[in-house]
Amino acid sequence: MFLEEHIPATDPDLKDLILKIADQGMVIRAGFQCRQESCDTTNVYGETQVQMDVFADEVIVTALGKLDCVNSVASEERPDIVSLNKGGAFSVTMDPLDGSSLMGVNLTVGTIIGIYRNSSPFNPGREMVGALYILYGPLTTLTYTIGKGVHEFVLNEGGSYQLQHEDLRIGSSRLYAPGALRKKWLPPHRRFIRKLEEKGYKLRFSGSFVADVHQILHKGGVFTYPAFEGSEDGKLRLLFEANPMGFMITQAGGAASNGRGNILDISPDKLDQRVPIYIGGKREISMIEEEMLI
Ligand code: F6P
Repeated sequence: MFLEEHIPATDPDLKDLILKIADQGMVIRAGFQCRQESCDTTNVYGETQVQMDVFADEVIVTALGKLDCVNSVASEERPDIVSLNKGGAFSVTMDPLDGSSLMGVNLTVGTIIGIYRNSSPFNPGREMVGALYILYGPLTTLTYTIGKGVHEFVLNEGGSYQLQHEDLRIGSSRLYAPGALRKKWLPPHRRFIRKLEEKGYKLRFSGSFVADVHQILHKGGVFTYPAFEGSEDGKLRLLFEANPMGFMITQAGGAASNGRGNILDISPDKLDQRVPIYIGGKREISMIEEEMLI
């Protein structure tokens, strides 16, 4: 079955929106070969942009501008919200190319998207009506949810996304992907990681959040980028990274927490808000939330 057959037609605008983004996955994929260099620019977080960050951002914003149903887009690569079509029902949040610092070493990167039925992106994550990510790895895959399970498709040679996994449920293996500099970890997090290690969790951390969470989704375990000395909010961005992937993993039977409570309950108050993140199986999320109470 193909993506266009799989997405229900009950909400045609939402369906068009997801399909439009899916099409951009092919354009972005095609851009990799000739856009390997860094730019002279940094984004709002002070991170050096690579050509592909800027390209992927422009490709998606331009495409969404052609849909009457899209009111606004907030991108990790831009300081301000882009207003597109007044009267459009949806706002979109995106990290056009997560993990882009890995492009130079040919590791997997991806596009992360959150969709709200609201003209503004300032909503708690649980109000999302859809989320998806496209992974550019050995295969190009698209994983989406509209609140009815999580489904994964593979881009075939004919340019269609073909169903590979329907109703994915998070795995039960014991993997852990621990971000941030170990020497800057705070005590509850340190204790949590020690407990995982004592229980025999295997280390898996690539440096690409979207790819690491994808692995956790399939196999099980937990990805963390915690609060650390010097940044009580961690590194990852609430609107662009944590919420869409949190919504996705929750739909697959897992959970996402800032260590003290569900990430999807946080009401964002700024575009570049960061959040400590624990995302994975419910077992692991309960462990860190208990550790934080000690
Ligand atoms: O937020 C961008 C990102 O590249 C994530 O994809 C990744 O998990 C994280 O930063 C890696 O951070 P660090 O370089 O500190 O390990």
